[in-house]
Amino acid sequence: MCGIVGYTGQNPAANILVTGLKRLEYRGYDSAGVALAERDATGTYTLNIIRRVGKVSGLESELNGHSSTSTCGIGHTRWATHGRPTQANAHPHISCDGRIAIVHNGIIENFAELREELIQRGHHFSSDTDTEVFAHLIEEAYEGNESSGIPATHKLLDALRIACTQVVGAYGVAAIAADEPGTIAVARKDSPIVIGRGEHGSYVASDVIALIDATRDVVVLEDGQFALLTPNKIIYTDDQGTPIEPAVTHIDWDIDLAEKAGYPDFMLKEIFEQPRVVRDTLVGRLTGAGELDIDELGLSFEELNLVDRVYVIACGTSYHAGLIAKNLIEAWARIPCEVEAASEFRYRNPIITPSTLVVAVSQSGETADTLAAIRDARIKGAKVFGVTNVVGSPVARESDGVIYTKANKEIAVASTKSFIGQVVSLTLLAMLLGQVKGKLTTGQTRMLFRELGDTAEHIQTILDTQQQAIQSAATACKDAPSALFVGRGMGAAVSNEGALKLKEISYLHAEAYAAGEMKHGAIALIEPGFPVIAVATKSAVYDKVLSNLKECEARGAKIIAVATEGDHEIEAIADYVIYVPPTREAFSAITATVPLQLLAREVARLRGCDIDQPRNLAKSVTVE
Ligand code: F6R
Repeated sequence: MCGIVGYTGQNPAANILVTGLKRLEYRGYDSAGVALAERDATGTYTLNIIRRVGKVSGLESELNGHSSTSTCGIGHTRWATHGRPTQANAHPHISCDGRIAIVHNGIIENFAELREELIQRGHHFSSDTDTEVFAHLIEEAYEGNESSGIPATHKLLDALRIACTQVVGAYGVAAIAADEPGTIAVARKDSPIVIGRGEHGSYVASDVIALIDATRDVVVLEDGQFALLTPNKIIYTDDQGTPIEPAVTHIDWDIDLAEKAGYPDFMLKEIFEQPRVVRDTLVGRLTGAGELDIDELGLSFEELNLVDRVYVIACGTSYHAGLIAKNLIEAWARIPCEVEAASEFRYRNPIITPSTLVVAVSQSGETADTLAAIRDARIKGAKVFGVTNVVGSPVARESDGVIYTKANKEIAVASTKSFIGQVVSLTLLAMLLGQVKGKLTTGQTRMLFRELGDTAEHIQTILDTQQQAIQSAATACKDAPSALFVGRGMGAAVSNEGALKLKEISYLHAEAYAAGEMKHGAIALIEPGFPVIAVATKSAVYDKVLSNLKECEARGAKIIAVATEGDHEIEAIADYVIYVPPTREAFSAITATVPLQLLAREVARLRGCDIDQPRNLAKSVTVE
């Protein structure tokens, strides 16, 4: 959560920082700010702090009114944790004398004690944030070091290192000091930091997307590593101050990923990428002998064969991918599978033995609850398999094995393509478990694999043919105060995702219900015109879903159905029908989800909502 960026070089810093912050805005957009080291007519440097509540565009307008010549600065876009989204709580935060400024991602767990101690030592606080203690701790160490003979260019870095020894929690932090113009000191623990050298200077950010215009060769800072950026070079050290030479990672993805490429918003662009995601996630996964090949599996077939219980742990949309996986794992491998919100799992005492497989699903690979649940499961002896979209992310690093979802960077806050990548990856895992347990033959696996691959084309068909139907359905429910999403089996799992998408981007209340459960309570909500969105694709329970929909129709519900091409029976009940190509029931979750994503987006568009950056949300949830 939150985004940080820093630049020191030959060019004006303000524009570079704003461009970087815009790229990072998906991580939080409650407020934005920059600190710029400015030189006055007498040659003295001061730090110019400019902060605004709201999006980066507000900060940009403000900066346009300043004629900054600074070539060194740091910036931040915030998702509020400690303290309301006010200007005072916006980063950068400064020391008492205003000569040190910092930006920070993460949480300082012992901030209350530190703040109390700092106040007793005479420091003045101007925000409610946990971050501000960092600025004061650096200030103390910086002044304390004055007489210790540390060369001036290293003082800030040393002070930052000392401050880090006092802080408990997670941080990606960048600091500048008026007395060391042109340098940025950086530290990392449990919060991502990438650093790179471009033609015109040195860059730091919390995500490579903010510096990819300047360089494709970056250092991904490890926990406990530090860096000092100057316009012409970057020094890296360990936590003792000993110089190190970290590995350089080459970024090979295309800059187009960071742009909308002609689409009105990233969400639509990412929905349209889904056929590619299916194909990429499947590349190289089936051997000529009909066996599944998951090279990052990290678990032997013997170990997998011993698995007698699976937990899928995840949050939000990733949790919904888990609901789909449960159906497949139990159907194909006949292993009991439970799906649990990571935030619940970590505080229960789940039954875990060495033959338990925990599957942790996370797009970002850095969700705090999912990570904590992984750590807990491993301590209790489970094997953990990660499903993530981010190579080298904490979920990938802390799991025994991993499968990457190949969705590539997802920028819209609402997950779409990464969900499809997760479902495809979990489907592969279910097939693998089925093979290992001797329940699926290689012939069956080949057939399933081929049909799974066909869903790429099915998604394309939906994108090409159903836009008009989706628009009509969206128009019909855009003003409803609430909606129900219903289905059975796979359809029930998909309904959860449909309801979440509608809630998060259109702010319409929506609830998912197993269709058969409606008559036990929720049907009381239905009155004439109430929208019921049904996943009614052909399946073993299709007739049952139809009966449930008739019960809703009888009470005047407005029914929007996602149905299988060629099904005309549904037209007699539903007011609006969105068709998806026929598939095996196991893969219907992939096809049925796409219209629900488009429906949510269209409702949000009609309601004038911010599709890519819905209120109160952020892309990575690195707090509990
Ligand atoms: C909803 C959404 C969130 C995430 C959740 C978990 O569209 O994106 O519900 O799915 O915050 O995030 P990851 O998958 O990064 O662990």
